[in-house]
Amino acid sequence: SDIGKGTYPFYMLKEIDEQPAVMRKLSQIYADEAGKVKIDEAIVNALIEADRIYIIAAGTSYNAGYASKYLLEDLVEKPVELGIASEWGYNMPRLSEKPFFIFLSQSGETADSRQVLVKANELGVPSLTVTNVPGSTLSREATFTLLLHAGPEIAVASTKAYTAQIAALAFLAKATGTAIHNDKAANFDVVHELSIVAQSIEATLSEKELIESKVTGLLETTRNAFYIGRGQDYYVSMEASLKLKEISYIQCEGFAAGELKHGTIALIEDNTPVLALISNNPKVAAHTRGNVSEVAARGANVVTIVEQDAAIEGDDIVINNVHPYLSSISMVIPTQLIAYYASLHRGLDVDKPRNLAKSVTVE
Ligand code: G6P
Repeated sequence: SDIGKGTYPFYMLKEIDEQPAVMRKLSQIYADEAGKVKIDEAIVNALIEADRIYIIAAGTSYNAGYASKYLLEDLVEKPVELGIASEWGYNMPRLSEKPFFIFLSQSGETADSRQVLVKANELGVPSLTVTNVPGSTLSREATFTLLLHAGPEIAVASTKAYTAQIAALAFLAKATGTAIHNDKAANFDVVHELSIVAQSIEATLSEKELIESKVTGLLETTRNAFYIGRGQDYYVSMEASLKLKEISYIQCEGFAAGELKHGTIALIEDNTPVLALISNNPKVAAHTRGNVSEVAARGANVVTIVEQDAAIEGDDIVINNVHPYLSSISMVIPTQLIAYYASLHRGLDVDKPRNLAKSVTVE
């Protein structure tokens, strides 16, 4: 059944493996057979009415909001601002004249996010909850709901909900962009591009042993580690480092690669693990390479995770190319596996990390 672990040692690995199927499922749900996107027109119209989009979330869902920001801004043609739910609940910033709130929440039950939704409702601000759980509190109380259709996520560390959130928002961006005749939306065949993403994920999943071998030694005993990247890769590095922290207890930070030299590089010493994310974005890939050289020169133990067209000889993990709007999905997969194997090799309970709950219903 959906809820069983089957032959898997941990739910997390099962849920990582389900991601290609989730990508394809979303195309079945949010597009018709001809590939035309189907999103409730009322949601699209509400987005068109707005002058700014506020994405409110916690934890991994917050990171998924960042991973979707560029795609939404490009196709919907509005600024997208992110809010940490637990901050905004108490310190709501000055809003634009016509705000629209998007609540990202796997469970739909996070109390911090709900607190912001209650305020949004008091202010009469329209809202959309993007969630995996139909009928959840955030779904019931928001104006609109978009479901993730990822199937139950049992492991505390979220994986398939993150990638499903980005994919679901890609459909929303495509539908809205099409309605406003945005040229980039016209050229972005989301169904086709997600099928390429699903294939790229499958290719990465077939390299589990290689990825596990990179973790052995590098992350078995270290107390700290860094992920670095620029642009979309920076957002993925935030999620990659959260995942590693949650289940391996390694202190790990995700940094904007160009920001290292402004402080963080002081932390690099002999054998500090630095995992560099380099997707195929010609504007930034070469610069991240430069940052890799800088940390390597200071003794860091570097692992490169690189999209095929940006790869050079000697790269450690190579990821099949996808559309740049969706690279956060394909680039996060090896980092989920890295966290999984790091936790496993450290002898920890992958699915039930200490101190954490799957959904947090207190503020
Ligand atoms: C908890 C979980 C995290 C999750 C966060 C937000 O802290 O441990 O894995 O990302 O809540 O959950 P949500 O259900 O709102 O996405």
